[in-house]
Amino acid sequence: MDEKMWLVVSNRDDRDEIIAAECEALTGKKPVDGIAAGGSIERVCQAAYLRAGVRTIATGENLESLCAAIREGPFDVDDFRIKILDFAKRIDKPKHEVIVALADAMPNGRPKLDHPRHRLLLLSHATGFTFGEIVAEPDRSYRRHDSKPYRTSSALPSRLARSLVNLVAPSAQTVLDPCCGSGSILLEAQAIGLRAYGGDWKTALVGMSRKNAAHFGYDIKVEQVDARTSTQPVDAIVTNLPYGKGLETSEEIIRGILQQARILAPVAVFVADCDISNWLRDAGYEKIELFLVPKYAGFTRYVYRAWR
Ligand SMILES: C[S@@+](CC[C@H](N)C(=O)[O-])C[C@H]1O[C@@H](n2cnc3c(N)ncnc32)[C@H](O)[C@@H]1O
Repeated sequence: MDEKMWLVVSNRDDRDEIIAAECEALTGKKPVDGIAAGGSIERVCQAAYLRAGVRTIATGENLESLCAAIREGPFDVDDFRIKILDFAKRIDKPKHEVIVALADAMPNGRPKLDHPRHRLLLLSHATGFTFGEIVAEPDRSYRRHDSKPYRTSSALPSRLARSLVNLVAPSAQTVLDPCCGSGSILLEAQAIGLRAYGGDWKTALVGMSRKNAAHFGYDIKVEQVDARTSTQPVDAIVTNLPYGKGLETSEEIIRGILQQARILAPVAVFVADCDISNWLRDAGYEKIELFLVPKYAGFTRYVYRAWR
């Protein structure tokens, strides 16, 4: 792996489907063992599960050849801190010894642990070691939405909601959540610069979404409307479908919501609690992807991205 730019995802297990899907949507590359080599770093700032975008300084098959490559290269920086991610479990000595060896390979550089100007990263991977400088990181702005003043028991965690929006963000400017509840998805869409529209058939939930949006200073239009009759055309729909205890719902209602979503937007992300791929096909979606997101023992979220 010696591409100039590489991206590290937050969980190195690339079987984690939603993490891999978000990485591919935002960077153009799928992660392999937690690393997407050669991807774009432009959208790293808005990511939920990307950890860093890194510019390559040197590579090596082992630590000795890596240090030699650093020594020979033009790279010599002041004010740096080095971090290690031993993804491939290749480092068999204490990490501080490795850090000292790397620092020694940059003889004119000065380590600085507090507020360093350069944050360097050593990563072990299947074919060796790559040393680079972190040049992009997520702003983690989704975190502040976890403290939204109004919420329901079915509200999505803001990090997951951000990743769902990111699945469509590169090709969308407007997003509708027609079953918006307390508005978790709307907040994430608006935070990354999309125009968000919300709808819910319950007055109380429309009120919650509006108040949550106002709390964060977002201008989001939220209407009381049955999702089966919503008329707001958008670039993408992202919604957590009604399911679970306490929510009045039925197969007929969900099918109606899917059919209307297909009319309103060319692409949609739906969260469900079971396999709804046949309902999506019946609603007229032509291409369907599924990402399973385990929640806790016995419960899995089914995240679909579907194109009409
Ligand atoms: C799983 S919750 C969504 C939770 C939301 N993502 C949040 O973070 O709060 C589903 C929502 O769909 C709404 N709903 C159910 N059927 C609906 C319909 N036919 N039209 C509009 N909203 C509907 C419910 O009132 C509920 O707020």
